[in-house]
Amino acid sequence: MYLTGEEERILRGESGPALQKLMSILVALGDIYGAERLIPVGSAQVAGVSYKSLGDAGIEWIESLKGIQASVPSTLNTAGMDLNLWRRMGVSEEFADKQLRIIRAYRELGITLICSCTPYLCGNVPRFGEHIAWSESSAVCYANSLLGARTNREGGPSALASAIIGKTPYYGYHLDDIREPTLMVRVSAELSEESDFGCLGHWAGRIAESGVPYFTGLEAATGDELKALAAALASSGGVAMFHVQDITPESMRVSKSGVKTVEFEETDLKGTYSELTTAIGGRVDLVCFGCPHVSIEEIKRIADLLDGERIASGTRLWVFTSLCTKGIAERSSLLNRIQRAGGEVYSDCCMVVAPLEELGFETIAVNSAKAATYSPTVSKMDVVFSTLQGCVEMAMTGRVQLRGG
Ligand code: F3S
Repeated sequence: MYLTGEEERILRGESGPALQKLMSILVALGDIYGAERLIPVGSAQVAGVSYKSLGDAGIEWIESLKGIQASVPSTLNTAGMDLNLWRRMGVSEEFADKQLRIIRAYRELGITLICSCTPYLCGNVPRFGEHIAWSESSAVCYANSLLGARTNREGGPSALASAIIGKTPYYGYHLDDIREPTLMVRVSAELSEESDFGCLGHWAGRIAESGVPYFTGLEAATGDELKALAAALASSGGVAMFHVQDITPESMRVSKSGVKTVEFEETDLKGTYSELTTAIGGRVDLVCFGCPHVSIEEIKRIADLLDGERIASGTRLWVFTSLCTKGIAERSSLLNRIQRAGGEVYSDCCMVVAPLEELGFETIAVNSAKAATYSPTVSKMDVVFSTLQGCVEMAMTGRVQLRGG
C-alpha cells in the first residue's frame, strides 16, 4: 500500500510507539484487503467498550495508548452498564470497577463519551459520501445505507486506530463497485412494526450473506423501522449496506440488472417470529427494548402503552437508549411515565453487552431480531421475540405470550 512520507515516519515509530502500533493496524488491514492507500475519515465510532467483551487484556491494550489523542470526532459503542445507574441494574462492584476503568482510558484518548450504537441520533452524523470508520455493525449498516456515508465494518482496534490517526484504508464500502446490489428482495408481506422489519432483515441477511440487498415494497418505511432492518441484516448475515427503492440515497444510482430476486412473503414473516423464539411458556423475567438504542418516538410509544398500567411483580422492563435521548425523554416527562409503571430507562449500555447472565434472568422478551439472535448464546437466556406491544403486554402479565398463541 502506498504511504505518504508522514505515514511512513509514523510506521517507523518516529512519532512514538502508540501511534506506530495504531498505524501498523491500518497498514496491515490495507495490505490484507488490497487497499491502494489511506484516506482521511470524518469520524470514528469505536466498539469494544463493554468489559464483558473486552476483558482484562483489552483494558491493558487501551491503557497502553495513553498520551495520544483522537484527531477526528469519535464516539463509543455501548458499555456493559449504565455508567451512572449500574447499581440499580444489579451490576457487581467488580464489573463496574473494570468498566469505569475502560471509560477513563477512552476519555484520556479524547474520545467523546457517548456510548451508543445510534451515534447518528446524537450528534455523530456523517455527511452523504463522507468516509468514516465505524465499528458497530448496525450503525455501519445504517450509515452506509440510510445516510450514504462510507464505512467498512471496522473492528474495535481498527476504528480506534482511525479515530487517532484520522485515516482508514481505501477498500470495500469506500468504493462505488462494492456498494452495488447483489440481491433483489421483493417484500409482499405486510410490515407494520419495527419487529416485522427485524424479521425481514433476519431472513434477508441470511440469504444476502455479506452482499448488498436491494428492497422493493418498503416505500412507507419509517426511520425506526429501517433502523431495525439494518440491525437484523447485520446480525444474521454480514450485511454492511442495503438499498430501499425510493428511500435510501444511492438506490436511484445503482444498477439492478441481472441480480437474482427473492420474495419475502407473509409465511416468512410468521416463520421468523417462531424461529427467533426459544421460550415455550412460563414466566418472563425481563422485557427489554433498545437494540439498537431506542429513539424518542419509540420511548413515547412505550410510555403511551404503559400509561395507567403496572409491570408485573418479579418482572423487569428495561429500555436502553443513548444519554442524549434519555435527556430528552426526561424533559418530556416520558421517563417519568415509564418509571411510574415500574419500568426503568438506562443509557450507555444494552441487553446484549450487559452481564445479564450474572444477574439471574432466565427468560427475556424483546422486539429486536438482533437481540433475539444473540440473547440465547451471549446471555444464555430463553427468548421471546414479539412486537413492541406484545412485549409491553408480557411485562404487565409476567407471562410468555407467543405470537399467534
Ligand atoms: Fe446496539 Fe447492543 Fe443491539 S450495541 S445494536 S443494542 S447489541
